[in-house]
Amino acid sequence: MMTKLTQRALNELDKLARQAAKRSYSPYSKFRVGAALKLTNGEIVTGTNVENISYGLTICAERAALVRAVSQFGPKIQIAAIAVTNLNGQASPPCGACRQMLAEFILPDAPVSFPGSGGVRTMPFSELLPRAFEMKLG
Ligand code: THU
Repeated sequence: MMTKLTQRALNELDKLARQAAKRSYSPYSKFRVGAALKLTNGEIVTGTNVENISYGLTICAERAALVRAVSQFGPKIQIAAIAVTNLNGQASPPCGACRQMLAEFILPDAPVSFPGSGGVRTMPFSELLPRAFEMKLG
């Protein structure tokens, strides 16, 4: 099951992700990624990848957008949809670390669109990260 978001809304999100990718700081990989989150409060927040000379400190576009969304709108945000893209014409589904971070705030049936090997693919988040790690607290 995937939450209904019009194709037009997803295209718009994809366009914003592409604009964000143009601001990528990726002098090492030259892989320019952009992400755009649609929140359930109607707000859209974008992010791009920010690399570091100590390679492992690099932050992906998806996580950049996520921390920006929480910083701007607080800890109760819910992600209704996300579009990821890159300017390198390659497939780039969100990496495992980003999926785990997104799991914290995204609705399981939120559409996730990303460049696949045969063009843009859209699937519910739960399909990208089934059986996400969770833990009962207290
Ligand atoms: N990258 C992202 O921004 N998102 C992903 O989901 C995968 C990879 C970035 C990290 C790095 O700057 C570059 O792409 C190459 O891995």
